[in-house]
Amino acid sequence: MAPMVDLSHVAYRELVRSFGGCDVFYSEMLNARIVPGENTRTSIYLRWTRVDDLVLQLVGGDPEKMHLAARRLDGFRPFSVDVNMGCWLKKVTCHGWGVALMEDPDRARRVLSAVREAVSTLVSVKMRIGCSPDPEAMCDFASMLEDAGADFIVLHARTAADGLSRKARWEYIARLKERLRVPVVGNGGVTRAEDALEMFSSTGCDGVMVGRQAVIQPWIFRDIKALMEGSQPEPPPPLEDVILDLHRLLLEHFGEDVALKRFKTGVVWLSQNLTFGHHLTTLVGRQKTMEGAASVVRDAFLKGIS
Ligand SMILES: Cc1cc2nc3c(=O)[nH]c(=O)nc-3n(C[C@H](O)[C@H](O)[C@H](O)COP(=O)(O)O)c2cc1C
Repeated sequence: MAPMVDLSHVAYRELVRSFGGCDVFYSEMLNARIVPGENTRTSIYLRWTRVDDLVLQLVGGDPEKMHLAARRLDGFRPFSVDVNMGCWLKKVTCHGWGVALMEDPDRARRVLSAVREAVSTLVSVKMRIGCSPDPEAMCDFASMLEDAGADFIVLHARTAADGLSRKARWEYIARLKERLRVPVVGNGGVTRAEDALEMFSSTGCDGVMVGRQAVIQPWIFRDIKALMEGSQPEPPPPLEDVILDLHRLLLEHFGEDVALKRFKTGVVWLSQNLTFGHHLTTLVGRQKTMEGAASVVRDAFLKGIS
């Protein structure tokens, strides 16, 4: 499950986990400036039920700050500490973070070495193709990361300019897989369980990462695993139960205000499965309490608004 701000938090991860099939989860990106001072008792980011299958992702560009933050994260014994070299949003790249690091390979190498020195668990990088669709430049960059100590690379197969919308360029995943010794995880554009199998077979990648479709259909990994084992996926679960499970998990892990904000965000994505999704999103969006939000969900399904 991919890192997604406001979505890949502990409650959504637990929702995905409840269906089975997902081997590794990512946190939301964590700001390296904030991580060293973050209070684990009050932080809404440093929360998990299990950490051995969780990748904690850092965003930053200062090698010293990244070192300190990575050391803190390593202390929690996660599956991996990841460096974000793929985020294309201005608020991230304007600091020289995210995909901006791909334009400054020397800094990227120093950042990765600093994280490598700080961490005894795995170190990974989630990157894009780069700023332009140049396969050689992409491979050279990733190869440099491998030499600097990356244990695996996730490639979001789009360029910075592609954002999230252009069709993902899976041929770049195949190209990177040919070049690197370390495992390559492919990402971008998996919207059906069949797509994951297609990504595995057409690129030879070692893993598949799913982003948006994992929040729309949190059971997609269960379906992918079923197909990989040669069986037919089960029918989709009742969506009312899925939405109310997210509601319950949010209240289990967060206070009312954070839970409500995150529930509204979650409903926007889960509603994409419904004919009355737009209406449900509007109704939930107006609620001031979690109790109110749950009751409009129950009511909407009872009436089957369409
Ligand atoms: C709402 C949202 C938040 C995201 N936040 C992050 C992030 O924190 N770190 C990161 O590396 N990528 C982030 N991404 C990118 C995803 O991890 C993933 O690379 C992208 O959505 C493409 O995969 P998909 O086509 O399966 O959705 C985010 C994407 C979305 C839609």
